[in-house]
Amino acid sequence: MAVNEGDVLRALEGLALPQGGTLVSADMLRGLTIESGVVRFIIEARDPEQARALEGVRRAAEDLVTGLPGVTQAQVLLTAHAPSSPGAGAATQGPARLPGVTRIVAIASGKGGVGKSTVSANLAVALAAQGRRVGLLDADIYGPSQPRMMGVSQRPSSPDGKVILPLQAHGVTMMSIGLILKEPEEAVVWRGAMLTGALEQLLTQVRWGTLDVLVVDMPPGTGDIQLTLSQKFALDAAVIVSTPQDVALLDARKALRAFETMNVPVAGLIENMSTHICPKCGHEEHIFGEGGVRAEAERLGLPFLGELPLSLEVRRSGDAGAPIAATDSPLAAAYARLARDLVAAGLG
Ligand SMILES: Nc1ncnc2c1ncn2[C@@H]1O[C@H](COP(=O)(O)OP(=O)(O)O)[C@@H](O)[C@H]1O
Ligand SMILES: [Mg+2]
Repeated sequence: MAVNEGDVLRALEGLALPQGGTLVSADMLRGLTIESGVVRFIIEARDPEQARALEGVRRAAEDLVTGLPGVTQAQVLLTAHAPSSPGAGAATQGPARLPGVTRIVAIASGKGGVGKSTVSANLAVALAAQGRRVGLLDADIYGPSQPRMMGVSQRPSSPDGKVILPLQAHGVTMMSIGLILKEPEEAVVWRGAMLTGALEQLLTQVRWGTLDVLVVDMPPGTGDIQLTLSQKFALDAAVIVSTPQDVALLDARKALRAFETMNVPVAGLIENMSTHICPKCGHEEHIFGEGGVRAEAERLGLPFLGELPLSLEVRRSGDAGAPIAATDSPLAAAYARLARDLVAAGLG
């Protein structure tokens, strides 16, 4: 039996708040979504102090909703309006800022294989080429690709066993769990909690230094990693990458809604693998359909941040660890433009 919004709201009516009233009557419920039996919503507290006092309510709400027929899982987040003190990590204290890091921008998508990692690497390199201080965190801990794309394979060192020193490539300060695992296959045997713990460590223990922007290459979809990141760290924006294919667009919409639920502003949509320009004759072809992402951005009232063509050169350079944005290929210009636009929008 499928559960619906009404069922969830009715169940929550039975849960009294310490200050009286219910989550609904106190207008503290945000972003309720139900997706194949997984119920997610946010309890929005007035300030970090109230959020702390509501941790019991958050847990009770999760238990209540998990007990409803048709619910396989409930994820309830607590957020507070006012920002918490720097370095605070607990979920109930609201998201933390990383010292020295001006902004964190997540590159996300609903679907895998649309080019998040390619866009993250090239965008980071293009931003660095424009004089920005840029970090790149590979948060796709199930399938890290930045070591290959950025051409980095050394294991990062940790002089005191606590601080992890990041690596430098193409002007970018980078870190990936792929550099820490001994075997690439190791990640698959890890469990969710270990993985999210590992990610938190990467963010907090890496000595990022002073950064204008930390670009985060996200795993596909809207799972634990996205939740952990947005719950624990103040993500300033998410940029959604999609191909023009309808199926990828649908997934992009899902990702978008998830970020809204998590209170992360979506800065806009990027179309990747937009057109194919034949390297022999210069003929332009829309392999995955035309203008789909731009139209979708318009429909959603979000900025369309640009389109990046499908190109063999992009894939080859990614495989070779020399991002196209670091070359003098005409394709580097597309990334330079994207980087300039993001800086102009205050996101770079
Ligand atoms: N614009 C592009 N042109 C050609 N190949 C691309 C392009 N963008 C990504 N790719 C290739 O597609 C594959 C998937 O891209 P990737 O960036 O790993 O996607 P994701 O991180 O979303 O899973 C990689 O082999 C990559 O080199
Ligand atoms: Mg990837």
